[in-house]
Amino acid sequence: MKRSLVTTALPYANGPVHIGHLAGVYVPADIYVRYLRLKKRPVLFVGGSDEHGVPVTITARKEGISVQEVVDRYHYLIKESFERFGISFDIYSRTTSDIHHKFASDFFRKLYDNHKFIQQTTEQFYDEETHEFLTDRNIRGECPHCHTAGAYGDQCEHCGRTLSPDELINPYNAINGNPLTKKATTHWYLPLDQYQPWLEHWILEEHKEWRPNVYGQCKSWLDGGLRPRAVTRDLSWGIPVPVEGAEGKVLYVWFDAPIGYISNTKELCDAQPEKFGKWETWWKDQDTRLIHFIGKDNIVFHCIVFPVMLKAEGSYILPDNVPSNEFLNLEGDKISTSRNWAVWLHEYLDDFPGKQDVLRYVLTANAPETKDNDFTWTDFQARNNNELVAIYGNFINRAMVLTHKYFEGKVPQRGELSEYDRQTISEFIEVKQRIEELLETFRFRDAQKEAMNLARIGNKYLADTEPWKVAKTDMERTATILNLSLQIAANLSIAFEPFLPFSSSKLRDMLALNSLDWEQIGSIDILPVGHQLSEPSLLFEKIDDEAINRQLERLARIKEENKMKQWQAPEQKPLTNIDEFAKMDIRVGKVLECEKVKKSDKLLRFLIDDGKKQRTILSGIAQSYPNPEELVGKQVLFIANFPPRKMMGQESEGMILSAQDADGRLVLTTVSREVRNGVQVG
Ligand code: 2FM
Ligand code: ZN
Repeated sequence: MKRSLVTTALPYANGPVHIGHLAGVYVPADIYVRYLRLKKRPVLFVGGSDEHGVPVTITARKEGISVQEVVDRYHYLIKESFERFGISFDIYSRTTSDIHHKFASDFFRKLYDNHKFIQQTTEQFYDEETHEFLTDRNIRGECPHCHTAGAYGDQCEHCGRTLSPDELINPYNAINGNPLTKKATTHWYLPLDQYQPWLEHWILEEHKEWRPNVYGQCKSWLDGGLRPRAVTRDLSWGIPVPVEGAEGKVLYVWFDAPIGYISNTKELCDAQPEKFGKWETWWKDQDTRLIHFIGKDNIVFHCIVFPVMLKAEGSYILPDNVPSNEFLNLEGDKISTSRNWAVWLHEYLDDFPGKQDVLRYVLTANAPETKDNDFTWTDFQARNNNELVAIYGNFINRAMVLTHKYFEGKVPQRGELSEYDRQTISEFIEVKQRIEELLETFRFRDAQKEAMNLARIGNKYLADTEPWKVAKTDMERTATILNLSLQIAANLSIAFEPFLPFSSSKLRDMLALNSLDWEQIGSIDILPVGHQLSEPSLLFEKIDDEAINRQLERLARIKEENKMKQWQAPEQKPLTNIDEFAKMDIRVGKVLECEKVKKSDKLLRFLIDDGKKQRTILSGIAQSYPNPEELVGKQVLFIANFPPRKMMGQESEGMILSAQDADGRLVLTTVSREVRNGVQVG
């Protein structure tokens, strides 16, 4: 029996984790690992935080604290969130550990000594004042495409285009604003191109079973032709490059992070060798399957770069599968840490204490396995109320309560089975095999559906057999129905264990079921006759509209804040002077009448008291003021000396001034205290 080493992408310790992380990587990996453990197959589940890279250094600077403080803060927060959601890592460590530093450094050195790198000297952007080379993210300048100021060296956030720092117009140091020069620097590159033929064979021929999204992305990278990739950087935060003369250089974060999977395994095995054995067994023995759970932005690193590193080293196994998910969106928009557009795990647990399984359930039911998917709060509520509560919870509750009512909470004796009983049993007898097939092929959504289907079968069985009515006349039959129902409940407590571990454990407590044997799924003899059940309690609770509305209001608030933050005031117009301005006759007038212009969607007709006469002005702001009469009585600013103009058959004498709000609606300008009509503005 092959052993499995399951890894999950190491999240950057640069912020808390959110539902996208959980749905994409950690819940599916945890389901898989829990399943393997239930199957009694040897498995090791390795996770940890990725604590190097540029973003943590930027956060530290922004917050005025040390980088170590940043990674400490988030490492512990992330670790705790995973624990609270039942992600059952054997180890969750970090890439700032001494073990990791030494391991990654030695790994690099071995490749270096065996001439697996190529060395190249190139000109890079340099800050003469601070004596540092700058990484792409730390260089800003004008975008060559949309000409927005402050685009990053790797991407313009305004037009979304990918950039290289060389393309920026007037690049400068993002941290201090200093202008930049070019200076020669030497780095080590992994010559991916030399491994292209090998990769083409290994992935495209030998791993056709990988998910289409993973296989497809690899194929397009390979079709595009691989190029050498730098694995070192000029940076002070990270693992020093262990080569003489490489002072001030560290390993590239994407070089050291995946080595974290190995060093974390070593940390665990060295600490508990009798329990976990030697780390080499997990990484170098052909009987180990290595499985990486990741998000789609990590595919190239896990399917191409890391395997090349392992191959170049020579003594490691290669990944067997890389079940990568697509992305989860939130209420139709991409999850974004910087825009706070996320449901943070630690906040969810504050708002929905004890409801870890509800989120696990919903995220698996909607898992972005083959395409991007959307998390919405109304779907969350519906899946909880209509599935977990109404089907699974309802079934368990009725089976428990009725057994207590009629049989003092003891599992009653089953009599002869009816045709309908047999039919029900035959419906779920194969559920074990179906769930297994789906889990073995990483189809977690469908696997969970099968488990839920079992609950549905149980719920329907009780609804159809109506033991509460049968009990009035036939206790023997009632006993049979409840025995069978309780056996289904016991089945559920096992089948749902990988998906909903908290509820499964609660259910087993209710059933006073001490053992947990996966092989029993499909059996109707799990609970012996006379077995005493514990007191019933609700497995799931309804979630009311109020709780959901609070979440929706929070998101609406964030959206509003983001609109304000994202706003960039337009560039100033060329200089003018007072004489030019004086040519404009801007005045204040009072709105006497305001109504929609017939047959026009856009125009409002204003009748203005301009101090001398009443003048008509047409203004294209009808869509911003659905009730134009509300403007009557307001004083507005208008340009009086525009030549009269005909629109929709009516003459307009001037232009009313307005501004645009964050939603693109026009807002009339007015004065902050009443003034005389006709007064000039200047
Ligand atoms: O994308 C990320 O969040 C990376 N920190 C993932 C690293 S995975 C692995 F290589 F460690
Ligand atoms: Zn741009």
